[in-house]
Amino acid sequence: MRGAKNLLAAIALGMAALIALVLTGATGAAVQGGTKAGAGRLDPKPGIEKKIDELLKQMTLDEKLQQLQLDADWEITDDGARAGVGSVFSLTDPVRINHHQHIAVEQSRLHIPILFAFDTIHGYRTVFPTPLGEASSFDPSVPTADDTIGARETATVGIKQIYSPMVDLSHEPRWGRIAEGAGEDPYLGSVFAAARVEAAQGADYSALDKVVTSVKHFAAYGQPEGGREYNTTDMSEQRLRNFYLPPFKAAIEAGAGTVMCSFNAISGVPGCANHETETDILKKEWKFDGFIESDYTAVDELIRHGIAGNGADAAEAALNAGTDSEMVSTNIRDNAQQLLADHRITMGRIDDAVRRILRVKFRAGLFDQPYVDQAKATDPASFVTAADRAAERAAAGKSMVLLKNDGGALPLDPTKSVAVIGPLGNDQHDMLGPWWGVGRDTDAVSLYDGIKAQDTSTTTFTPGCAMIDKDPPDLTPADECGSDAGFAAAVEAAQGAQQVVLAVGESRGQSGEAAARTEIDLPGKQQELIDAIKATGKPFVVVLFNGRPLTLTKVAASSPAILEAWFPGVEAGNAVADVLFGKVNPGGKLPVSFPRVLGQIPIYYNHEPTGRPCDPTFKWNARYRDLNFCDPLYAFGYGLSYTTFAISNLRLSSDEMRHNDTVTASVDVQNTGARSGDEVVQLYIHDPVASISQPVRRLRGFERVTLAPGQTKTVTFTLGADDVGFYDNSGHFVVEPGTIDVYAGDSSTATLTDSFTVTH
Ligand code: BGC
Repeated sequence: MRGAKNLLAAIALGMAALIALVLTGATGAAVQGGTKAGAGRLDPKPGIEKKIDELLKQMTLDEKLQQLQLDADWEITDDGARAGVGSVFSLTDPVRINHHQHIAVEQSRLHIPILFAFDTIHGYRTVFPTPLGEASSFDPSVPTADDTIGARETATVGIKQIYSPMVDLSHEPRWGRIAEGAGEDPYLGSVFAAARVEAAQGADYSALDKVVTSVKHFAAYGQPEGGREYNTTDMSEQRLRNFYLPPFKAAIEAGAGTVMCSFNAISGVPGCANHETETDILKKEWKFDGFIESDYTAVDELIRHGIAGNGADAAEAALNAGTDSEMVSTNIRDNAQQLLADHRITMGRIDDAVRRILRVKFRAGLFDQPYVDQAKATDPASFVTAADRAAERAAAGKSMVLLKNDGGALPLDPTKSVAVIGPLGNDQHDMLGPWWGVGRDTDAVSLYDGIKAQDTSTTTFTPGCAMIDKDPPDLTPADECGSDAGFAAAVEAAQGAQQVVLAVGESRGQSGEAAARTEIDLPGKQQELIDAIKATGKPFVVVLFNGRPLTLTKVAASSPAILEAWFPGVEAGNAVADVLFGKVNPGGKLPVSFPRVLGQIPIYYNHEPTGRPCDPTFKWNARYRDLNFCDPLYAFGYGLSYTTFAISNLRLSSDEMRHNDTVTASVDVQNTGARSGDEVVQLYIHDPVASISQPVRRLRGFERVTLAPGQTKTVTFTLGADDVGFYDNSGHFVVEPGTIDVYAGDSSTATLTDSFTVTH
């Protein structure tokens, strides 16, 4: 996992807790995102509430407070289990899990089992592509495969809760955690959030191969100022509700059982002390009946945020806002008795928090089957099976994006010799990306091995320079590819081969938590390595391994072909080789814009219009003085294929959408090339005249289709009130009369267009 994190020291600021509810309550009712059903919300186990009533009647205050405590693996003790601690995270040894569970169930007074949790973000042991990569598939079957396998492996060791999905939308590529989410779009993010929850939980998460999900980080964690980890965010109500909340709402509608509140402040109020997001929106408006756990020491950090003077203030603020469980720090457990005596919190609120936690434990089946099958949990055959690897390889292939392919440089000819060059060319460690669960470097297939297995001629590997991947506590700046001493050998290897595959990008530690970067180009001297190989005149292609969008202007100017492979997971080398040699035709699309230069950030396709839209040929408008472009280098939804497609004949079922009606939009998509391939047909809308400025485009439908050469398919999308409406700045969902423009095509720059009118 990661290096141990220290409990932050409490800094007494001598201020009473002050929760400023700057955002108003709201009543919006429309459903957004991929799931429109609330099927997951049906309680599969009637009678639970009565059992909770009986337990609550018997519980002492101390026993109740223990339930609200969430310990890290290094904190849990036999005494803690005996006292009835509520939850434990990051403990992955099934023997220790059983040990503590036996103590909790057999020796604690009320025999309440512990809920064990883990960050299964993109796989437990069978590590899948990083989530931003998976979002590039535009195919919900990819996260479904990931979370189905991840849940099964996690549950096998006795862990019943995962701190996933991470559904934070982001317009901030400097932020390392953009790698963990689904990118910049609320609709795509919603579809992926729902798919992950449904796959991990199934219809009933007490099943032996299922876990309860915790959707995080609630809320607006994806927009830290300056891209700096944990930093503050200032957010209008409409932004919060139209961009950042929809993936959470979709996850809750899909049945997500728990939620993690975020470190960041939202307009001055930290996520774990935010009554509006936690209680008004999540618990009341969305009727969420599971529990909210704090992020790591986030309750304690309310002191540093400057909204609590001491631990008691922090506990009061968190509990009263709606936080039910405290991770690592212990302010609620330590101070609740005094806070009750001082009437600063109520027993009703404590009971509500305990009830929510017990509810999840009952639903998870922990009272019926608290123990893990140790034989199965310690059997190597339970993990990274051949079938799981095959599913991972397919998912990784679907997640890759072909960014450039001049003159058909790709696919490569497998009968010709290949020089694999670059610091990531024979790498296992970085292929797993940040948040690798309990994945092992030795599980991963390197690119060199993957190419060797498919190249019928000779394959060589020469690094050129090295990736170092310094994890904390080593805080010296990363020195990835810092030396060109190996370039001469790389050039020689290129000269000796018929074709070159250049494997460049980030180390896995350069993305993920606490990995913000001020530059997002290729680290170190990797561009110089590309230039040195280019100078040999040998045909070459670039394969990128990275967690976040990079500025690729120089790479694109110097390289004929670029394949964005992200961090592809355990089958990395095989999956990339499948694409390089054309066994798999790439069909992924970017779920996030790739800027030309850092200064363009934030740049995202679904921005609001301005009175003076960017125009590089004219001075007095929203442009940069030193950049002759307005667009990103690669737009949201963009990606190439080894074949070509034509999308045509956009037609609407009606030119009018009356109240509660739907309008369908259909297009024909044809494979006009010579190879079978996948296209992602995308549907965008724009409301040109509204009470508040609407984004220039909003994705409201997509479908990934596989077509044989010459084959045509009709794709139909259905638009309803929930698609054309939006949240206003009072938090109300409004559907306004007027024109809606529709665009269809193969990216966010699609040009096929038509429109209809919304009438009441
Ligand atoms: C992260 C969470 C994670 C938690 C437990 C925190 O630092 O923000 O995403 O679930 O640690 O590992």
